[in-house]
Amino acid sequence: MLSRVFVKGDRGKKMSFVKISLATISVFVVFSIVFFLNYKDYTSAILQPTVTDQNHEMDRKQKSDTMLAKKKSAYTYLGPKCEQNISAANIFGFNSLPDHIKDFLYYRHCRHFPMLLNIPDKCGGPEGSADVFLLLVIKSSPKNYNRRQVLRNTWAKERLQKGVWIRRLFISGTQDDGFEKMTLNYLLEIEHRKYNDILQWDFCDSFYNLTLKQILFLEWMERHCPHVRFIFNGDDDVFANTDNMVVYLKSLEDNDGSKHLYAGHLVKNVGPIRDPFSKYYIPVQVHESESYPLYCSGGGFLLSGYTARIIYNTSHFIILLPIDDVFMAMCLEKAGLHPESHSGIKALGLQVPNKNADPYDPCFYKEMLLVHRFLSVHMLVMWHHLHNPQLNCSLSTKM
Ligand SMILES: *[C@@H]1O[C@H](CO)[C@@H](O)[C@H](O)[C@H]1NC(C)=O
Ligand SMILES: *[C@@H]1O[C@H](CO)[C@@H](O)[C@H](O)[C@H]1NC(C)=O
Ligand SMILES: *[C@@H]1O[C@H](CO)[C@@H](O)[C@H](O)[C@H]1NC(C)=O
Ligand SMILES: *[C@@H]1O[C@H](CO)[C@@H](O)[C@H](O)[C@H]1NC(C)=O
Repeated sequence: MLSRVFVKGDRGKKMSFVKISLATISVFVVFSIVFFLNYKDYTSAILQPTVTDQNHEMDRKQKSDTMLAKKKSAYTYLGPKCEQNISAANIFGFNSLPDHIKDFLYYRHCRHFPMLLNIPDKCGGPEGSADVFLLLVIKSSPKNYNRRQVLRNTWAKERLQKGVWIRRLFISGTQDDGFEKMTLNYLLEIEHRKYNDILQWDFCDSFYNLTLKQILFLEWMERHCPHVRFIFNGDDDVFANTDNMVVYLKSLEDNDGSKHLYAGHLVKNVGPIRDPFSKYYIPVQVHESESYPLYCSGGGFLLSGYTARIIYNTSHFIILLPIDDVFMAMCLEKAGLHPESHSGIKALGLQVPNKNADPYDPCFYKEMLLVHRFLSVHMLVMWHHLHNPQLNCSLSTKM
């Protein structure tokens, strides 16, 4: 139970940002765009094209607009808009449930939402997707622009690593209403054009909709990247040592992605939190059983393409549970498969050997696959330390 709370504790903090005002967002967007990394590029391309560049930029803009239109039309959910299930209100004790739980129950059956931003050819088409060795699938809310920028320049850089391809995707919904929502959608559209790494669906990107986000991704993958070898699935506030991940995944001798793999930080013997004041509150009306299956913490885990497709298949038979990592484990269980532990995945953070040690000593992180939780400054510095050929860990305390 404790570990459940701890694992989810940091992730939940994202929610407290939800009430940021329009003014703050605008300042944040402008600040980020202007000061974060690409001053020149952004100002000329988006904000104020210079006279000499204007024609070129307009050309480019028109091209990318047509591209965007093409991308949009490439996959659009054409079914009816999913309607609220009014009879959910007949469930016993419904009226005494908190609003977000009511909301969840009203929309629990909805699994299809229109795509706002798509990249159908991300993996080089369904056939080409076998050439993608590691697809990084990072859950990121629209507001987390700064985190995405740091990740693009550190562990989530798209590259050929030890002879195999790493590709990156951020998966997102929408946030806020009215002008704020439009601003954030436009922010993602700018990023989408520039970096080709955003998938966005038209659903509310809330903590309780994370499972929905995962299912929408799996459906997308089945269609566009079915033969991807391995997938890293995780949050945008973790430090993922993708170099080490490639080494580990390549070392799996009998598994090229076509066999089962689901590895991370295992959480066992926990069940739903029944405290209505907890962020992770799950009442009996949502999940009756007092236990969850063994699962990997959703902060970050590795799975094979094969296992991702199995999970997608069995997900059709499992009623939605808002806790995404537990839901994935239920789908696995249904297929008769199990998650496994990887000791290099520290979803609860890293315990340094003694109080006087620098908690960000790169030598502690050299052999890790994943550590939660890491934000911008430390992320960038750590990534550079680990790539310094001069880094000498022979004198440091072993973890
Ligand atoms: C609507 O909710 C009721 C009560 O939980 C449930 O029995 C029914 O199956 C739901 N309908 C749909 C379409 O999910
Ligand atoms: C999930 O997203 C849908 C579509 O935007 C929304 O109607 C619903 O309220 C959201 N559910 C939660 C629990 O936030
Ligand atoms: C998923 O289900 C489809 C349709 O039943 C089947 O063709 C496919 O082989 C299944 N995928 C896996 C990985 O089992
Ligand atoms: C690392 O440091 C130790 C102790 O100072 C030294 O003996 C060793 O040669 C160094 N190794 C490298 C590769 O620089």
